[in-house]
Amino acid sequence: MKLAILGAAGGIGQALALLLKNQLPSGSELSLYDIAPVTPGVAKDLSHIPTDVKVIGFAGEDPTPALDGADVVLISAGVARKPGMDRSDLFNINAGIVRNLIEKVAHSCPKALIGIITNPVNTTVPIAAEVLKKAGVYDRNRLFGVTTLDIIRSNTFVAELKGKKPQEIEVTVIGGHSGVTILPLLSQIPTVNFTEQEAEELTKRIQNAGTEVVEAKAGGGSATLSMGQAAARFGLSLIQALNGKENIIECAYVESDGEYARFFAQPIRLGKNGIEERLPINIMNTHEKNKLENMLETLNKDIKLGEDFINK
Ligand SMILES: NC(=O)c1ccc[n+]([C@@H]2O[C@H](COP(=O)([O-])OP(=O)(O)OC[C@H]3O[C@@H](n4cnc5c(N)ncnc54)[C@H](O)[C@@H]3O)[C@@H](O)[C@H]2O)c1
Repeated sequence: MKLAILGAAGGIGQALALLLKNQLPSGSELSLYDIAPVTPGVAKDLSHIPTDVKVIGFAGEDPTPALDGADVVLISAGVARKPGMDRSDLFNINAGIVRNLIEKVAHSCPKALIGIITNPVNTTVPIAAEVLKKAGVYDRNRLFGVTTLDIIRSNTFVAELKGKKPQEIEVTVIGGHSGVTILPLLSQIPTVNFTEQEAEELTKRIQNAGTEVVEAKAGGGSATLSMGQAAARFGLSLIQALNGKENIIECAYVESDGEYARFFAQPIRLGKNGIEERLPINIMNTHEKNKLENMLETLNKDIKLGEDFINK
């Protein structure tokens, strides 16, 4: 299997590449691309780690050599937030970067499973879908917005609050990947109960967790290490699914059946062709239902912004 990271010299890209060099199955190939000239050096550096994963690195304007034959492409190329910015402030720069990279993916490895990390995910995923559609290669089962960081943060925060082991908690997080569109379904976690106030405060903390990191880094960027871990988990799930492992469930922001919005983060079952099944979202309590209702205007606006960016 070949996995390509676009944006590989960045904070997320390097953390992700390190984790994958150590965790990809034996015989895999890790292909790194970034406009930054350091990228072949990042690959050289990683190549000294003794695992049976081949690493190659490419810099410059053209990602094509990195994409050739890729089975999975993870994209974290773009700019990250600084204090005072929200994810939508990144749109002006990142929309064009994602569009250009996806055009190359469509040409070089149209069957690859694509995971978009670059923010604003609510909008960059619709951009990618429209570019792939224009190129005639769109398959809604092969494109994912990576929202795994919302899940691992939720798992950590719930475990902290309730004195549980984080590895034993798995929270379903639905909607999108920014502010009010991030909706952790706390009522669905088995054996854990919350008061109304706890659920309210915890939901807010999960929604604002990215800003917690942006502010603590004081202008030095946003989440990179926890995001590297989240993207590695998601990328490895894709690779395992392609390798035939069954019943892999993840939440991701994907083209949905349209019940709430065209794109929606939801639980999915992965398989050899990407998404095998969009799983039902189980019963929510009244507060969660209200939050879902209230996010839809924002989410649909974010989606339309992406569609219009390509189609106007
Ligand atoms: N999905 C999520 O949960 C999540 C979480 C955190 C951050 N992010 C997003 O991930 C993105 C990357 O964050 P980061 O902290 O790694 O940023 P970073 O600035 O450290 O790295 C970004 C990298 O992208 C590269 N790049 C820029 N334009 C490029 C192009 N056209 N082609 C190839 N590479 C290009 C840069 O050279 C840089 O190395 C940001 O948009 C950030 O908002 C997403």
